[in-house]
This record gives sequence, structure tokens and C-alpha cells, in this order.
Amino acid sequence: MKKGIIIAAILSIASASLFTACKPDPDFDAVKTEELSFKIPQGWPIPYYQFENNKVSQANFELGRKLFFDTRLSKDNTISCGSCHQAFSAFAQLDHAVSHGVQDKLGTRNSPALFNLNWHTSFFWDGGVNHIESQPINPIQNPVEMDENLGNIITKLSADNTYKQMFTSAWGNDTINSQRIFKSLAMFMGMLVSSNSKYDKYKRGEAGGNMTAEELSGYEIYKAKCSSCHTEPLFSDFSYKNNGLPPTSVNDSGRAHITRAAADMYKFKVPSLRNLAYTMPFMHDGRFDNLDRVLDHYAGGIHQSPTLEPQLQNGIQLNSQQRSDLLAFLNTLNDESFVKDSRFQQPK
Ligand code: HEC
Ligand code: HEC
Repeated sequence: MKKGIIIAAILSIASASLFTACKPDPDFDAVKTEELSFKIPQGWPIPYYQFENNKVSQANFELGRKLFFDTRLSKDNTISCGSCHQAFSAFAQLDHAVSHGVQDKLGTRNSPALFNLNWHTSFFWDGGVNHIESQPINPIQNPVEMDENLGNIITKLSADNTYKQMFTSAWGNDTINSQRIFKSLAMFMGMLVSSNSKYDKYKRGEAGGNMTAEELSGYEIYKAKCSSCHTEPLFSDFSYKNNGLPPTSVNDSGRAHITRAAADMYKFKVPSLRNLAYTMPFMHDGRFDNLDRVLDHYAGGIHQSPTLEPQLQNGIQLNSQQRSDLLAFLNTLNDESFVKDSRFQQPK
């Protein structure tokens, strides 16, 4: 982001001096340039996506948010991005094992939570999409999700004067096109940063970050047993791994679906362990309703196969004290201020 701010600063100085010399550019004047603060949380790596070619402004964020919660992005105007990615569920879909789209059609995968996306190197459980700005085309066109095409969406939005105003504020004129829609959505999603859990406060030495003995013991268990894949501070290394889930009738091949490589069979993107209190059910197909089921899986449910991660071959056994300590630690990763953040809620 630093680079983005610097570039933005150079651009604005350059354009300011240019525009004082020539007559003012009406497009430029119309853009609300108020910058949104995107702060890299203390101790976190530089994000992968830095809004470099995407204007970071309040107007763009608000436009992205309106689009995200707008059911007109679906064929029958019933489903928005926010239907499957709910704010109170850390932008996952609470209580739905697999996603529900238009006309209650079912997908085969669990809607992932959306936060800290700028650090993701790829998207979807199988990494089938590699850029946050091109990602929305998939749910929009997917027949079991929104089942709509961009031409229709642009026609629908163009008939709405509020959108004309918002596109003008964000982009300088009222042209509504897919590139602007995607970039504004990326702007909104990129701002969904969750970094205020008890764990974060503990790491930063802030008030509210006092860990109990139980939580600290759980932290050590996490470091020993889980951190190689669910790596701090994002609680994922964003790699693809087979964590030994027994195949189901869907027989989702995971990463191999994209790479066609036998070595990638049943590998899925490692999900974050942040905000688990809000995002159940768990795993790519939502097969586990709660964290006890997840730990039962790691303890005794590992399915042996050629691509299983070797470190999971004998499972992860914990006694009951260790289990409750680990659960106490995982509980410190929930960020209530994120799910309640008024900036991220559906606009009235
Ligand atoms: C019908 C439910 C549904 C709708 C509607 C929907 N999504 Fe999703 N979303 C999903 C599912 C399921 C996945 C996982 C897909 C996969 O792995 O194949 C997903 C994945 C994603 C991801 C990738 C997250 C990650 O961790 O890799 C992003 C970002 C996303 N959706 C944003 C959006 C946006 C933006 C919209 C609206 C344009 C949208 N979604 C509409 C269900 C939905
Ligand atoms: C070898 C890598 C690896 C290790 C070690 C590992 N996991 Fe996972 N974990 C994964 C992968 C990969 C997934 C996603 C699997 C899928 O959905 O197909 C996952 C999924 C999960 C989920 C589901 C999250 C969600 O949003 O659906 C939880 C919870 C979880 N792991 C907790 C743990 C805990 C706790 C430990 C340590 C006791 C641990 N994992 C150890 C790789 C690992």
C-alpha cells in the first residue's frame, strides 16, 4: 500500500501542476479524491494486492459496497454478493454447507469468509481465479449463483440515477462498464480488513490483549500442530494442501481441477483460522458444523491418499485439556469489531 500511496501522491502533485497550467479537467474535478486509509496492521507482511491501479477513494468504496449488496447483479434480482457473503458471518454464509444461489440452486462448495483478501495470492478453494478484480465475473455468470450477464447488469444499473451519480463521484463520469464495476467491488472487498481480535491486541501489547493461561497454552499447541499451514499472522500460508478429508459423492478434485495434475488431487486452499466463531460450517464443502468435529477429523478421521500432507498421516492427537486450550486460543482469533463494523454493512 505504501507504494500505492506514493504513486497516488506523485500522480496528484503531477496532475495538480498540470491542471493549474491548463484549464481544469471536468472529469478530474468530479472525482471525490478523499483517500481511504488502508493501513497494514502492525507486523503483517505487505499485501499482495495494493490497489495500485485502482483509485482508493471513499466514493469508490461506497460504490463497491452498493454493488456488493445489490440483488440486481443476479438474473431474477433476488441474490446479491452479500446473500452468500454476510457481514455478520465475516462475509461467509452462516449455516449453509454449500452456497445457495438464484431460485435456491445449490452449489457444491461452501461460501468462504471474505476478509484480508489483499493478502491472498489466488481466489476460490482451488485457486481458479488469480486476481481480485476479475473474480466477480465468476459468481455473476455461474448458473447456480447469480446466473446473469454483464450486459443486462449494465442496462439495469444505467436506469438508476443514484448509480449515475455514484459512478460520476467514483470515476469522473456516469459511464457504467464492467471494468469500473469490478474495480469498485475490489475496492470494497479489499478494505475488509480484520485485525482487531484479542490475539492481535495481545501481539500489539494493547488493552484487551491479556491472554489467559489456557489461551497461552492453546497458542503453543497451535504453533506446534497447526501453524505450518495456518500460518500467522493471516492464519493461512495460502498454499494448497490435502488435509485428509474423506472424499464424498461430489468427488471434488480441488486444486487438480485447475492444474490437471495428479499431484494436486484433493488439495484445497488453506483457509484462515480467524473469525471461526462467525463462519461455520467448515471446510470447502461445509461438512463440519463446529470446531469439535474439525478436531475429531484431525485426531481420527484422516483419510490416507497419495497427496495427503505427510505430517497429517498419523493425525493430530490432543488430550482433553490440550483440546480445550486450543479451542480457547482459536476463540481469541474472533474479531467482533470486524463483523459489526458499520462501514461494511448493507447500506440502507
Ligand atoms: C450463490 C452464492 C454466492 C454468491 C451470490 C457470490 N458468491 Fe462469492 N463465493 C461463493 C462460493 C461458493 C465461493 C467459493 C467458490 C469456489 O471455491 O469454487 C465464493 C468465493 C468468493 C471469493 C474468493 C474468496 C477466497 O477466499 O478465495 C470472493 C472474493 C467472492 N466470492 C466474492 C464475491 C462477489 C464480489 C460476489 C458478487 C459479485 C459473490 N462473491 C457472489 C458463493 C457466492
Ligand atoms: C498440513 C496442513 C494443515 C495442518 C497442519 C492443519 N490444517 Fe487445518 N486445514 C488445512 C486445509 C488444506 C484446510 C481446508 C481443507 C478443505 O476444505 O478441503 C483446512 C481447514 C481447516 C479448518 C476449516 C476452516 C474453514 O473456514 O472452513 C479449520 C477450523 C482448521 N483447518 C483447523 C486446524 C487446526 C486447529 C489445526 C491444528 C490442530 C489444523 N487445522 C492443522 C490444512 C491444515
